[in-house]
Amino acid sequence: MLHEQWDKLDQVIRKAKETIPETPVWEESGTVLSVDNGIALVKGLANVKNQELVEFSKGTMGMVFNLDEHLIGVMLLGEYKHIQAGEQVKRTHKVAEIGVSHDLLGRVISPLGIPLDGLSLPIEVKKRLAIEQESPPIMHRAPVFEPLHTGLKVIDSVVPIGRGQRELILGDRQTGKTAIALDTIINQKNEDVICIYCAIGKRISSITKILQDLKEHDALSYTIVMLAGAEEAPGISYIAPYAATSVAEFFMHEGKDVLVVYDDLTRHARSYREISLLLERPPGREAYPGDIFYIHSRLLERATHLKEEYGGGSITALPIVETQAENLSAFIPTNLISITDGQIYLSPKLFQKGHLPAVSIGTSVSRVGGKTQLPAYREITSALKLSYAQFEELEAFASFGSRLDEATRKVLDHGQRVRQILNQPQYQPMEVTEQMGVLLAVVSGSFASVSLEKLEEAENIVRRLVREDDDLRKILLQGMKLTPEWKDDFLKRVQELFKKELADS
Ligand SMILES: Nc1ncnc2c1ncn2[C@@H]1O[C@H](COP(=O)(O)OP(=O)(O)O)[C@@H](O)[C@H]1O
Ligand SMILES: [Mg+2]
Repeated sequence: MLHEQWDKLDQVIRKAKETIPETPVWEESGTVLSVDNGIALVKGLANVKNQELVEFSKGTMGMVFNLDEHLIGVMLLGEYKHIQAGEQVKRTHKVAEIGVSHDLLGRVISPLGIPLDGLSLPIEVKKRLAIEQESPPIMHRAPVFEPLHTGLKVIDSVVPIGRGQRELILGDRQTGKTAIALDTIINQKNEDVICIYCAIGKRISSITKILQDLKEHDALSYTIVMLAGAEEAPGISYIAPYAATSVAEFFMHEGKDVLVVYDDLTRHARSYREISLLLERPPGREAYPGDIFYIHSRLLERATHLKEEYGGGSITALPIVETQAENLSAFIPTNLISITDGQIYLSPKLFQKGHLPAVSIGTSVSRVGGKTQLPAYREITSALKLSYAQFEELEAFASFGSRLDEATRKVLDHGQRVRQILNQPQYQPMEVTEQMGVLLAVVSGSFASVSLEKLEEAENIVRRLVREDDDLRKILLQGMKLTPEWKDDFLKRVQELFKKELADS
């Protein structure tokens, strides 16, 4: 009897011995002192590095953010309600990473790569990329020369965007910023562009609507949605845009063109401010910490167009910023205006008047995109911006009710038609050759005889004319200039169609 028990004990000991590694594993751990608002203060971990991931109980991760003499400030990246003072924290010797692969297309993920769409499909990880990457050196960068069409007439004509450009979308709340970004994503359906929509600090209800819109317009198959919800720890919002950019870089290095929308960086800046204040970093202007400019510039510097020998792909960045009471000179908007290659400003006044998209033509610029515009398109719209500004000035005068001479009347009539043509409903991006046809007709005055009520009908006639004429489309898409004879011929055909189909106007 005793013998048997002895044997059993011997077996147990042998087994236990097998599981003990030959060399002892070195593990460094510290102790949690306090947890609050997504920040943990930790003691110990003498050798931990800045930005290193540390592991709390139940697998919750945190990123080391502050290294003081005796205390370590950790930004928590997940559920933290269960973390208690006194428990252990372990080093991981790793920085924050995200798993990337082609499986991500069509999925909704968290900034740490965890699927959030409830699909049981696994995401097979091909590579793990650190969320913070150095931006490509100047020598690896190629000029931006290919256009990225948004499908919105007002943007593609006067503030064109190129692949590899960074264009800021800014405006007050509810002015159509997200709508422009979504339309741009929807317009990439046949353009071979991979889209990433990074939602930062949004409420679940608005995220659900955005996902539904993307799905309804068949845009999910080439889109990755990254979510950092408003109810999550501020650390999640803080890392989201960097993680989204790492995913974009994976595709860019494969030679793909990628579009990344950051919606929005105001919330990103606020999360960072929250973390910094909790960690008692000194506040500066508007209580933002001193390195707020750097966190955005190092993010947007990663958007670029690579030279062919380095992959040839591109990342186009559309950061969104929310202004308050149209104050463009607040801290975060001015920072971002100076970092990006131009801005699209949405005016609440235009929005109220129903001029949608509410792009303020005078305040919006694109410093790189002009070179990428199709030559024929550039020719058609070269005078548009200036003549539109003149029209707006005249209109302001005319509203005083004075009697107008014939010439002024004409300018106003023309301007109204241009403005109405530049309006566009949501979810209806327009193909670029159709845009060119319509804008050529309007700037040449073909719509002068059409009443404002019939304008939409007339526009559809021109669109159809372009759509059904392959030769015409070829000419518009090619890099050549439009000859006067060609233009006359086109406008004559437009007039004939108007005569036939808009008979009673
Ligand atoms: N071109 C448009 N035509 C019609 N409605 C639009 C257009 N652009 C935006 N909207 C509507 O305006 C509202 C605000 O747009 P949204 O993009 O959410 O604003 P923001 O992101 O600036 O807060 C939404 O209800 C949206 O559907
Ligand atoms: Mg929005």
